[in-house]
Amino acid sequence: MSTDADYKPGLEDVPAAKSAVSFLDGKKAVLEYRGIPVEVLAKESSFEEVSWLLIKGALPTQKELADFDRELRQRRSIHFRLKDIIRNMPGDGHPMDALHAAVASLGMFYPCHTVTNPAKNWDATVRLIAAMPTLVAAFARTRRGDEILDPRPDLDHAGNFYYLLFGKEPTPAIRKVLDACLILHAEHTMNASTFTARVTGSTLANPYQTIASAIGSLSGPLHGGANEEALRQFEEIGGPEKVKAWLDAKLAANPKYKVMGIGHRVYKVKDARATVLQEIAEHMFAESSRPVGYETALELERVCAGIYGPKGIYPNVDFYSGVVYSAIGIPTDVFTPIFAIARVAGWLAHWTEQLVGNRIFRPEQVFTGKNDQKYVPLDQRP
Ligand code: COA
Repeated sequence: MSTDADYKPGLEDVPAAKSAVSFLDGKKAVLEYRGIPVEVLAKESSFEEVSWLLIKGALPTQKELADFDRELRQRRSIHFRLKDIIRNMPGDGHPMDALHAAVASLGMFYPCHTVTNPAKNWDATVRLIAAMPTLVAAFARTRRGDEILDPRPDLDHAGNFYYLLFGKEPTPAIRKVLDACLILHAEHTMNASTFTARVTGSTLANPYQTIASAIGSLSGPLHGGANEEALRQFEEIGGPEKVKAWLDAKLAANPKYKVMGIGHRVYKVKDARATVLQEIAEHMFAESSRPVGYETALELERVCAGIYGPKGIYPNVDFYSGVVYSAIGIPTDVFTPIFAIARVAGWLAHWTEQLVGNRIFRPEQVFTGKNDQKYVPLDQRP
């Protein structure tokens, strides 16, 4: 029987799987996908190529990438009845809840009942990566009364997603920013949603259920939801000159107040992805036209470094991603769904890896209840 001495809250430092998908050194801010630094991939690669790299384990040949890209473009469309389901979702619902339900529904229209057929597993893998932007954009449009658009097979993954959201093609610069953001969010070792995908996948649930579970996990404010909260926090502060007073007031009310977009279970220095996103933001905003939110973020980072730096708490990926998405015109509550559109590649890579030699997850507990209690019949209870 397990005891308190065995228990690690949050499973901190407990290995939950053997994995070759990605590598993270939180003290040196190193993040590699299959051995390649994420900063290099964000600059040189594409989300399509990175998805293949994560799932298949190596960079694709030219033919492999061309074939994969064609398959993705072919599977972007969704069944008309799935569009009806999305149209009938409450317009004031959260897009992450809509995505969760839509991905589970996707599996009913394109079933993959068993996970023992590699061809069917691959089909579901491609469909999930290809269709998630369609699902996110469909809800984002229909809730504001706009028609759901058909995917554009002539555009790449990032360009098509932007078109599906806004009904126009992105500029090459915006397309590149969006593609880089997808690459930066595609994978991150054994985080909560990846662990969730592995737990659900370990029951041999179908891949759509596995990904829907992971989406639920990603939706929380301590995980993917932090990017929304970070932007709202910058808006609440209202400007760089108000940062110090804002933080003083928060800490006076609650000394354990958590600043959104900083801190990480593994990183003890600034997250490499936050650094790349900050570079992207610097590139997007000329010095003269920096949005107030970005100026506020810069000042909050500076103030927080003084307070939390000695504890190894620095900006994570969510600190700057919201500022970048907001500048592209993306609604705040669609930030986390974009995270999911990217992270599905990592979840599927872990699912594919785990299917070989799968064992169902069944951890232990430290029992803190009572034994040998009497059952009192209802009519004898007060
Ligand atoms: N702001 C202020 N203090 C923070 C903090 C934050 N964002 N994150 C952690 N801390 C402090 C805690 O108060 C705690 O201090 P203590 O030792 O004096 O009690 C210490 O750091 C450890 O925090 P803990 O919550 O136990 O760390 P964790 O590893 O369980 O949690 C996160 C990691 C990411 C959940 C946490 O840092 C957080 O909530 N960050 C804000 C949300 C966020 O940005 N999430 C996105 C992650 S990519």
